[in-house]
Amino acid sequence: MPLETDGRRLNANDIRARKGGEPIVALTSYHAHTASIIDRHVDFMLVGDTLGMVMHGLETTLPVTLDMMILQGAAVMRGSKRALVVVDLPFGSYEESPQAAFRSAARVMKETGCGAVKLEGGTRMAETIHFLTQRGVPVMGHVGLTPQSFNTIGGFRVQGRESAAAEAIKADARAVADAGAFAVVLEAIVEPLAREITPAVAIPTIGIGASPACDGQILVLEDMLGLSPKVPKFVKSYGSLAQHIDEAVSAYAREVRSRAFPGEANVYKPKA
Ligand code: KIV
Repeated sequence: MPLETDGRRLNANDIRARKGGEPIVALTSYHAHTASIIDRHVDFMLVGDTLGMVMHGLETTLPVTLDMMILQGAAVMRGSKRALVVVDLPFGSYEESPQAAFRSAARVMKETGCGAVKLEGGTRMAETIHFLTQRGVPVMGHVGLTPQSFNTIGGFRVQGRESAAAEAIKADARAVADAGAFAVVLEAIVEPLAREITPAVAIPTIGIGASPACDGQILVLEDMLGLSPKVPKFVKSYGSLAQHIDEAVSAYAREVRSRAFPGEANVYKPKA
């Protein structure tokens, strides 16, 4: 059952309060129209920097800019009324210093009206998360596979298989929670690690390829709808939109080529 809100939009505190309770439902969203469709079903929607790959055909999220995030973040805010909207800070917009992160986060919040930002990194970003949360910016953390570190981690691969790596991810999740984040995304980590981290941190864990052991789940909308060209192995398919589009466009093209289009319904008649 979606959380009852009496018409108000959910905020970061509502999400934090769901720790250990009803599982948190989340999806990515990049457009006003899809935001309005998913709004009543999700607790928060993430304007993820995956929009670079999903909407723009980029190979990684690294080229995504703050302006791109703001444009789509504002669209998602216009399309939604109820769910918390979280906007990703893109690569290069926050890592340099807490002050740089604050400037980027403030722009995102002022220009989109969103309720929170997300940034990648654990222990190394703790000071920045603390700085932002002390200044009115609700922050969602993101540890495990952090796609903005594609070039240093050597690709998109499952994290935390070896014990040293697992310990580091645990420390990252704790650091993010202790720094004041209201929730943390655990991406592509092995199930036993998600089972250990979830009860060990005071904030909700949001899994993506991290097993049902988390307090909530997020997926890239286009991945679960069958619209992305490359879909990670762990994603269950809930639709086949690429196939529907292909069939619909092929029917349209056939009708136009056979001069059957436009059909009666599409012809404007002169007034009698
Ligand atoms: O950018 C994104 O879509 C994300 C999700 C994969 C969690 O960060």
